[in-house]
Amino acid sequence: MSESVLVSVAWPYANGPRHIGHVAGFGVPSDVFARYQRMRGRTVLMISGTDEHGTPLLVQAEKEGVAVQELADRYNRQIVEDLAGLGLTYDLFTRTTTRNHYATVQELFRGLYDNGYMVKETTQGAISPSTGRTLPDRYIEGTCPICGADGARGDQCDHCGNQLDPADLINPVSKLNGETPEFRETEHFFLDLPALAEALESWLNEREDWRPNVLKFSMNLLKDIRPRAMSRDIDWGVPVPIEGWEDNNAKKLYVWFDAVVGYLSSSIEWAYRSGKPEAWREFWNNPDTRSYYFMGKDNITFHSQIWPAELLGYRGQGSRGGEAGSLGELDLPTEVVSSEYLTMSGSKFSSSKGVVIYVKDFLQEFGPDPLRYFIAVAGPENNDTDFTWDEFVRRVNNELANGWGNLVNRTVSMAYKNFGEIPTPGDLTAADQALLEQAERAFVEVGENLEHSKFKAAISQVMHIVGEANAYIAENEPWKLAKDDTQRERLGTVLWTALQVVSDCNTMLTPFIPHTAQKVHETLGREGEWAATPQVREVADDMPVEPVGVGLPAKDKTYPVIMGDYTQQQATWQRIECVPGTPLSKPKPLVHKLDPALAEEGPSWAPVVS
Ligand code: MF3
Ligand code: ZN
Repeated sequence: MSESVLVSVAWPYANGPRHIGHVAGFGVPSDVFARYQRMRGRTVLMISGTDEHGTPLLVQAEKEGVAVQELADRYNRQIVEDLAGLGLTYDLFTRTTTRNHYATVQELFRGLYDNGYMVKETTQGAISPSTGRTLPDRYIEGTCPICGADGARGDQCDHCGNQLDPADLINPVSKLNGETPEFRETEHFFLDLPALAEALESWLNEREDWRPNVLKFSMNLLKDIRPRAMSRDIDWGVPVPIEGWEDNNAKKLYVWFDAVVGYLSSSIEWAYRSGKPEAWREFWNNPDTRSYYFMGKDNITFHSQIWPAELLGYRGQGSRGGEAGSLGELDLPTEVVSSEYLTMSGSKFSSSKGVVIYVKDFLQEFGPDPLRYFIAVAGPENNDTDFTWDEFVRRVNNELANGWGNLVNRTVSMAYKNFGEIPTPGDLTAADQALLEQAERAFVEVGENLEHSKFKAAISQVMHIVGEANAYIAENEPWKLAKDDTQRERLGTVLWTALQVVSDCNTMLTPFIPHTAQKVHETLGREGEWAATPQVREVADDMPVEPVGVGLPAKDKTYPVIMGDYTQQQATWQRIECVPGTPLSKPKPLVHKLDPALAEEGPSWAPVVS
């Protein structure tokens, strides 16, 4: 099996700052996974960027009264800051308004078109009767024809997750002014999903280890498979690279057609920016490379159906045949890893519904690790989960501070005070050995869970050992041993054992709370970079591209990206022996306890409302 792993992370819309619901779905889980894979010695490419086309951007630009590109520039920058601040180790976090992205999207479209999977059809487009303007899908709301839920949008029902066409909605109304849209004939390119259905089905049948609800949902989508429009009546997006369409400013590619291609275009951009322009091929043209896609559940359709279909069609592997385009045989996803929603007080965590806790505010007040910890241990991995300040305070204070922080602090303090260094152990008792073995075994058990994106189970196992280590200290009472000169060797043995377990737990907590892990590494008398951090860099859109169509963005515009060199970090997924004689210093507090009042009232920027 190849040791290369592609970690594909959903692209946030650049239509506002990110809230904690967003990063619970795509951000933190993917970073825990990528960090773990790197610790296992695998070659990881983790990529993403901001999704800057489509109605979500247009709506917000209109609201703020700014040009859409200006809006995209502003929120791209904000989101880059948010995600880098959380310590998310993207190899490249870029954006969809680059020349390279446009060219790659158009290449994919052309490949699909040449193979016969992009078909022109006439369809019903919604028009506002009062203005005569096209109504984008997202501007239309109505009852879902599939599940019957109210408030389904013209592009998708958030209740059942199915993609929709506005003309399917029962009682459609415009979100802008409540009027009933008129439907008129309009031409679009459709992705011929039925011609790819068989290939999609056999790919899905080969999937292993997916979260059961994700696989079930994806299989279900095959039942109602029909061609889907991949262009829109909209003036903001990637031009359609077909003669007669290229210059049409009223029709662009559908935002979801271009966004998913971002995984590929950002890999190509990463290779260029790393000085190895062909390096992306290892992650896309090697069938042994594994690829994992992280997202919230409202994105499943696009990752388990639309994106694989685009890839299959480009490879020429549907019922219409064809051959692979110039980018070669592109690999399909190994696994689609999807989270449920993080809610607050029962309502979906969404800026459109008014309940918002922004990442920026959160980071400013608490730093990244408390949020990373909370999402890993209590996030929406398998169920919609409600965020409350009460639970946040309880978990940070009881588990991170009293559990982990206290274990590190008292173990290192006692060793420092009594020995000034890591002590030399004498003979180990059965109990000492049992604890050490338990910690060593955990590398296998926790690793197995992380391999399968079972983050809650993984972190709970580590925290269980933290609890066992605290119990071991309580039982052995090293503070008593310290008062008795005849017990000095036993004192050294107990503290050495505890320090070894602290070191092991710290290694296993590294993917979850890397900033804290770096501090513990130093507290244990070790030096250098243990856990890497991402960097924000300003780059120019200067990459040489071969345009397939027209209408590429201007050259040389600068923008911020997240990159990083994660190969120099020391962290590996195995026990590091605690070497007797290593000098120790007085430990600094590791985790700051939160004021209990926060549990009741919340912070001023997101107060608890009763
Ligand atoms: N912007 C989309 C959302 O926030 C996600 C796009 S994921 C992509 O729901 F990779 F397809 F871009
Ligand atoms: Zn529905």
